[in-house]
Amino acid sequence: MAKRVVITGSNRGIGLALTAGLIGAGHQVFAGCRNPAAAAELAALQPDAIAAVEMADPTSIEAFARAADRHFGAVDLLINNAGIDARSAGCDFDKRGPMVIEPEAVLEVTRVNAVGPMLLIRHLAPALSRPDQALVINVSSQLGSMVVGDTRGGDAAYNVSKAALNMVSVMMADRLRKHDIAVVALHPGWVRTDMGGERGELAVDEAAPTLVEMFERLTMADTGRFIRPDGSDHPW
Ligand SMILES: NC(=O)c1ccc[n+]([C@@H]2O[C@H](COP(=O)([O-])OP(=O)(O)OC[C@H]3O[C@@H](n4cnc5c(N)ncnc54)[C@H](OP(=O)(O)O)[C@@H]3O)[C@@H](O)[C@H]2O)c1
Repeated sequence: MAKRVVITGSNRGIGLALTAGLIGAGHQVFAGCRNPAAAAELAALQPDAIAAVEMADPTSIEAFARAADRHFGAVDLLINNAGIDARSAGCDFDKRGPMVIEPEAVLEVTRVNAVGPMLLIRHLAPALSRPDQALVINVSSQLGSMVVGDTRGGDAAYNVSKAALNMVSVMMADRLRKHDIAVVALHPGWVRTDMGGERGELAVDEAAPTLVEMFERLTMADTGRFIRPDGSDHPW
């Protein structure tokens, strides 16, 4: 059945490939990005709608949620995909570790990666509660895991922000269960994008179809889980 999907960060990387995969699978996509006028590749996919959203700005997030609600009337799937790491907060490679990173960089990355998704879920909850069952995917990272991120990644802002997003996921799973909204944190795999870099294990076009298929299988039984692309449990 065609789903009404809202996604952020849909103009490049994993978000663009997911949008293409979702449209290809027959779903309707309300595609969020920071600058719709510059989103040529996204426009070429002809999503249902393209709308502006700045995940660092609570007012923009609320307006985006309102616009999606007005557009669809009900939302089946929200994908909180937009994300940044410390490079976007101006940190050099050797200035990202927990002993040296600027406090403002940690806060800036966490604002986009964890606080923004929390607000978007909050404002979209009424629309997500209207179908019999809805799903929220928070695109997290293995680097937000306590048993991976302690030694890997090296970017304190990113690891802290994704650990915070994981907590947002389990708290929202608890609060939204009664509305039949499942909330899941997802490690999407190591993917070759601007963020993932050239050494990533998968091209976006390889990663996205697996994820789109996996979204179809998730139900309320999965709410509160942290999962890998194959649907298996990722350790917290
Ligand atoms: N690639 C990987 O290996 C990997 C692994 C684990 C998790 N992830 C997660 O997967 C998600 C997508 O990553 P990616 O690899 O596709 O990264 P990417 O290629 O760098 O794309 C990031 C996307 O997020 C958007 N974005 C950044 N800051 C934003 C803001 N303040 N407000 C709204 N949108 C914003 C970007 O829009 P602009 O074009 O406007 O900047 C872009 O669309 C992220 O949450 C990332 O943490 C990626």
